[in-house]
Amino acid sequence: MRDSPQVDDVLSLLQARGSARQALYERADALRRATMGEQVFLRGIVEFSNICANDCLYCGIRASNDGVRRYRMSEDEVLTVARRMDDWHQHTIVLQAGETDSSAGNDRLEALIGRIKAETPLSVTVSVGNRPRAVYARWRAAGMDRYLLRFETSDAELFARLHPACTLAERLACLRDLRDLGVQVGSGFMIGLPGETLETLARNILLCRDLDLDMIGIGPFIAHPATPLADAANAYADDPDMHFVALAALRIANPDAHIPATTAFDALFPSPSGRDLALQRGANVFMPNSTPGEYRRDYMLYPDKPCVDETGGMCAFCVAGRLEMLGRQIGAGPGHSLKSARQP
Ligand code: SAM
Ligand code: FES
Repeated sequence: MRDSPQVDDVLSLLQARGSARQALYERADALRRATMGEQVFLRGIVEFSNICANDCLYCGIRASNDGVRRYRMSEDEVLTVARRMDDWHQHTIVLQAGETDSSAGNDRLEALIGRIKAETPLSVTVSVGNRPRAVYARWRAAGMDRYLLRFETSDAELFARLHPACTLAERLACLRDLRDLGVQVGSGFMIGLPGETLETLARNILLCRDLDLDMIGIGPFIAHPATPLADAANAYADDPDMHFVALAALRIANPDAHIPATTAFDALFPSPSGRDLALQRGANVFMPNSTPGEYRRDYMLYPDKPCVDETGGMCAFCVAGRLEMLGRQIGAGPGHSLKSARQP
């Protein structure tokens, strides 16, 4: 492959079959080892609210799903979890929620970021969707280190069909604003959205490269029964291992980005665990669920989401065992971007 891969180069990786596929996994794993090392950084996710004003067609907590019991954790509840995370070797808290651009909610999140930074040693990643630049700037000033906002698909028409309230251009503008503000930026996409082609997948991977992302999260699209896409098949339903092929190609095109083994890999591949396989095929980050047990069943983005009956402590214990089995170490320190210009 050329130094700067083009669509045809990525397509040829994605077309690997049989022993060429195994060789692709091995190449991605060797590259991950060379660029990111053997440490696996843990970022604990706290799904602090499932209240959402959006109606993304694929999403289980979309506003129109009346079957969801809505919740919002209090500041003190989040802080209680945050104070335990260092003991769990989770040096980053990922604050994730639905998307509601209200001034009261934006103020609350600003105060929460400030308290976490003042009262714990954690790095703070936020993932709550599109906002005006001025709001991101306030969260940055409060101490936000990183932001996760997937572009979901690089196909602007497909994006528009799936997101009634947002365009791909608006999403990309948010990512630019965050970058300008000095925030470490994570984005990514779903693999196998209905309507995507192999060329879309190649372009998704190249868009990650072109955005020069610090972190890239990708995971399978899984149909949720209470959404308009309930009966839509994943584009790779006939060849599910394509999800790992996508991950390996992503690593090859983005050698020095943090790439998590995302939760949806475990939903699609329960045994052997998809997240463990992802860590052996290009990924170097793990995001244990640190949401208190009582809220987990209300944050079902897709069916068969793992760990809904566990607690934060159980997930922390489980991840340590997984990494030991894989011969990998838990990452020490915050695990900031490896891209030198972005380090705090
Ligand atoms: N509201 C924030 C946002 O939109 O970025 C964060 C929460 S949103 C639920 C987090 C991610 O969940 C989305 O970026 C999307 O890729 C993923 N997701 C939602 N529904 C999914 C599904 N049915 N299958 C797989 N992933 C899904
Ligand atoms: Fe709002 Fe998914 S539609 S978080």
